[in-house]
Amino acid sequence: MTSVLQQLMKVFVTRRIPPAGQAVLTQAGVCSIQQWDSEEPIPQAELLAGVAGKDGLLCLLSDRIDKKVLDAAGPNLKVISTLSVGYDHLAIDEIKKRGIRVGYTPDILTDATAELTVALLLATSRRLPESILEVKNGGWTTWKPLWMCGYGLSGSTVGIIGLGRIGRAIGYRLKPFGVKRFLYTSRQPKLEAAAELKAEFVSIDKLAKESDFVIVTCSLVPETQGMCNRDFFRKMKETSVFINTSRGAVVNQEDLYEALVNGEIAAAGLDVTTPEPLPTDNPLLSLKNCVILPHIGSATYSTRNVMSALAANNLLAGLNGEDMPSELKL
Ligand code: NDP
Ligand code: DGY
Repeated sequence: MTSVLQQLMKVFVTRRIPPAGQAVLTQAGVCSIQQWDSEEPIPQAELLAGVAGKDGLLCLLSDRIDKKVLDAAGPNLKVISTLSVGYDHLAIDEIKKRGIRVGYTPDILTDATAELTVALLLATSRRLPESILEVKNGGWTTWKPLWMCGYGLSGSTVGIIGLGRIGRAIGYRLKPFGVKRFLYTSRQPKLEAAAELKAEFVSIDKLAKESDFVIVTCSLVPETQGMCNRDFFRKMKETSVFINTSRGAVVNQEDLYEALVNGEIAAAGLDVTTPEPLPTDNPLLSLKNCVILPHIGSATYSTRNVMSALAANNLLAGLNGEDMPSELKL
């Protein structure tokens, strides 16, 4: 028995993961698993100790896998599999230098995230949380012509920052609401998706100035960090709604607060913030025209289970030196 265990590859899993992925890992029988078996994030010291000497690491977007963690892992580490499509928490340059392969979970969460983005947009633009509260606290006294009015999608211009998998899926879902015009930015024009949406590839300035709804779905990279700042919000219309389901750091939150308080934009809906969780005394939480969700874009039971299984299969394939179902090209 001891000799069999010695041949097993060692993996570290930084959290309790949804059952589908857990089953894939345990039934594979090719690795010995050490796991932070909790719903809560792993403390840094436990991560550094747990990863030492491992061949594989399965992590979450809330685990910062930096040089320190990679050094602690040591030279055996061959594969990192993240339970996310975003990989801004991984020190990609260091990982690449060390020849470590990376698995991630694109496509399978696109529908859930696009759906949630549409829900957040409607909740923000039609003031749903505020309205629900008014019903509960007695603020609903009678039907009033302009009370709880918001902004509709019909006839509007929607600007999408980052027309990738999720950006496109949001566009397809919004089109039947009667959106008149789609604008988008990306690093390169997306001809096929743009043709289907009749979307125009524009500068970020034009997108800010002309959109009634701005939706951020780009990845977090150095060029997009803090991209939605004071200058950006000042270019937006006073009646426009800003939605972010990408990463919190794309937005300068102090500038967003000013824009919301000063009426430079109408409202904002955020599924992602800096930091996460957002402290309950953050000024944005005091604003009626700001709707904040706790990073639930991909949070359907089935999506999270499929993500979990894919992350486990990526890890196993990487350990076995095989093609991963979803490998990030470094
Ligand atoms: P994609 O890679 O398909 O899309 C990312 C898009 O960002 C691409 O179109 C890319 O453009 C664009 N982009 C990159 N840099 C810039 C830039 N400088 N300016 C404008 N656009 C830029 O990824 P997905 O659509 O699958 O996911 C997008 C992001 O959404 C993830 O990285 C993650 O952070 C976030 N996410 C959030 C979730 C949530 O729960 N809220 C759930 C899932 C994802 P190009 O193609 O031209 O390079
Ligand atoms: C991701 O996958 O990057 C999301 O933020 C969570 O699903």
